[in-house]
Amino acid sequence: MTTGSADVAAAQVADRIDQLIAEQEQAFLRRQARSAQLIERARDVLAGGATSNWQIAQPQAVWLSHGQGSKLYDVDGTEYVDMHGGYGASIAGHAHPAIVAAVSERVRRGTHFAQPTEDAIVVATELRRRFDLPLWRFANSGTEATMDAVHLMRAATGRDLILKVEGCYHGHHDSVQVSVLPEPEEIGPREHPTGVPGNTGIPAAIRDLVVVVPFNDLDAVERALAEHRGRVAGMIVEPVMMNAGIITPQPGYLAGLRELLHAEGALLTFDEVKTGFTTGPGGITARSGVTPDLVALAKALGGGISVAALGGTRAVMSLIADGTYEQVGTFNGNPLAMAAARATLTDVLDDAGYARLDALAARLRSRLEAVIAEAGTGWQVVSVGAKGCIGFTAAPVREYRDFLTIDDRLGHAHWLIQHNNGVFLPPWGKVEQWLISVQHDESDVDRLAANFAALVGRVS
Ligand SMILES: Cc1ncc(COP(=O)(O)O)c(C=O)c1O
Repeated sequence: MTTGSADVAAAQVADRIDQLIAEQEQAFLRRQARSAQLIERARDVLAGGATSNWQIAQPQAVWLSHGQGSKLYDVDGTEYVDMHGGYGASIAGHAHPAIVAAVSERVRRGTHFAQPTEDAIVVATELRRRFDLPLWRFANSGTEATMDAVHLMRAATGRDLILKVEGCYHGHHDSVQVSVLPEPEEIGPREHPTGVPGNTGIPAAIRDLVVVVPFNDLDAVERALAEHRGRVAGMIVEPVMMNAGIITPQPGYLAGLRELLHAEGALLTFDEVKTGFTTGPGGITARSGVTPDLVALAKALGGGISVAALGGTRAVMSLIADGTYEQVGTFNGNPLAMAAARATLTDVLDDAGYARLDALAARLRSRLEAVIAEAGTGWQVVSVGAKGCIGFTAAPVREYRDFLTIDDRLGHAHWLIQHNNGVFLPPWGKVEQWLISVQHDESDVDRLAANFAALVGRVS
């Protein structure tokens, strides 16, 4: 094919994607009259008509009624296979009997005292076993856990700078709201990425304390540490990036990070808020054999109840134990959250649970790969444990800048086709895709694969 005819073919594909999106958005809106009514009412009392900006999908937010097992039901009465998984939290599925029993029992005996209950010891002991870190504390969201981790790295070293990977998301506290999903024109040169505020309201003074590096590049970390010698407290990283599609670490990357940081007297935090339980019983920490100084957990830990945990080495966590760093919170170790976490760890995410997740993930992956092979698009299926995504590109994706080259519209078209055909994925197309729960079955994952085949049939 000459360059000219290749351009024409690409333009035809682009047109087909645009048409598909327009048609699917119409179908989406037709199905959701009651959601539209609730959005109208909500706009009167909820800023933007929703309870988080990330619940506002295009063309409109989907209001839900309830969930059961692997299914979700919207207020218009449509049933979906839930592969959204509440942004990576719902690994137990919905109304799992073990969680219902644990939470119901706790509710009857009081849910909040701001004093510890015995379940906290059980949960911390199990986390120690899984993540090989001796001491733990609890919080209520991933944001709180990574905030404590950053504070602790600074408290332990007496230094202010942190290293952060371009395209990693670590929650919405100031220190990590830098270069989360920056636009191509903002990011600057790869050797010295520009620290781009991830939100308004982030003071420049705090942004200046964050040194941004690309993922999967040990030389860049070594260079950054040398350029800021003696000033870097530590590095926070998603050990598998899961907020820019899914980007896996190259062999040796995680171990190399720990070595480089420790050689400079700096610390390493793994943000396993998303990877923690979805990729295996002890997350990427156990899978990689690289134990960092701190691990932040949240999401799936609570089986659908809000809870977070921070684990660390004795050296770092002793700063909490001796009061140097005050790790506090009214709802830390909340009895309801502890009961839910205990049931999740002991009754849901056991060996049988992981065997089921692995089998379903392998089935889904092979079905998707078969579709791609037949169509010849070269797209990649990236799955780690129960989380997965389709990278709508044939080129290797090793860091955020590679992810930026993927056409956003494909992610959106995929989301719409899945939704209009009974599979609920996170509404950010190419940013995040599926989570399988222990309550899914073969027909659930086959449905996602069939919908994907329909997308491929329309755009390739
Ligand atoms: C890797 C990672 N860290 C931290 C967070 C923040 O967690 P939360 O939304 O519970 O504050 C998220 C949320 O998506 C996340 O994906």
